[in-house]
Amino acid sequence: MKVQSMKNSVVFATLAVGACVASAQGQVNVICSVQAEWCNMIGTVYTRTTGTRINIAMKGSGEALAQIIAERENPKTDIWFGGTGDPHLQAAEQNLTLEYKSPSLPQLHAWARQQAAQSSYKTVGIYSGPLGFGYNTELLAKKKLPVPKSWNDLLAANLKGEIQVANPASSGTAYTMVATLVQLMGEDKAFDYLKKLHKNISQYTRSGTGPIKAVARGESTISISFVHDGPGEKLNGFPVETVTPSDGTGAEIGSMSIIKGARNLEAAKKFYEWALTPSAQEMAAAAKQFQLPSNQSAKNDARIPDFKKIKFINYDYARYGASAERSRLIAKWEKEVNSLPR
Ligand code: G6P
Repeated sequence: MKVQSMKNSVVFATLAVGACVASAQGQVNVICSVQAEWCNMIGTVYTRTTGTRINIAMKGSGEALAQIIAERENPKTDIWFGGTGDPHLQAAEQNLTLEYKSPSLPQLHAWARQQAAQSSYKTVGIYSGPLGFGYNTELLAKKKLPVPKSWNDLLAANLKGEIQVANPASSGTAYTMVATLVQLMGEDKAFDYLKKLHKNISQYTRSGTGPIKAVARGESTISISFVHDGPGEKLNGFPVETVTPSDGTGAEIGSMSIIKGARNLEAAKKFYEWALTPSAQEMAAAAKQFQLPSNQSAKNDARIPDFKKIKFINYDYARYGASAERSRLIAKWEKEVNSLPR
């Protein structure tokens, strides 16, 4: 197994080319857009159980898409595992990913199959998770701040500099927030909201999990995060709790796609099939990751958020995963929100 950090993607590319000459069938090059603990566990277990060498590059959803677009003439990646579904749909639309119908599709939840169907089977749902807020219980108590319960609560004047969220250009988590607010409030009101929220943001991080990690370490009081990222921080001993907004929220459909022109296509298909099995999906909880698995036979850890207790909007995945819409909303956020002084 070879695991690379984001900073080392050039090394990854070099290794991949060299190794490819040595053994085309015996390896698979993966971009992994979930948390490092899960990527690392996949790398170790997959290599040990199959003998296939796995080269892993870790990238946030938006950054992964940018790399796949950049490599389109000469793909170095075979498979893209995880990350929010919207950029996977965008990759499908841009013909960067391969149509593939897994025999396991009937075992998956309807939302995962729908993700596959609406991309003409160029991607598939592997997990789902709701967007919400993370907070540091000790900091909230110390600062005598109430637990935020709705999107509006995040605009309170006494939360200036207390909130972190990621940048929607690099992070699928943050793009899910923008798309959720647009669907919840209508576009004009959502951008008014984002401009007001901007005053309370201390930092827009590159990665979607940066904010909840800052909350865990006591560097930020509140984060806008996927709530399934909370229990892992708590298990690591940090005073982190999560909540979903009472006025409604969106959920991601974490996805997986095979890259068109993959050099190790058979190995990519084998990895894809493995990643849809219940046992591979249950590995997430073992790596302290608590998304809802897409295989209906996978055992659900008790710490996975209870979807029945959450008020969801009817998220339009096709519309907000379309290239033009995603690019337009991100550019608008850069121009109208991120450029404002705080
Ligand atoms: C974390 C979450 C995943 C999510 C991913 C998106 O790893 O646990 O469920 O898909 O973030 O990352 P990004 O950096 O693109 O927001």
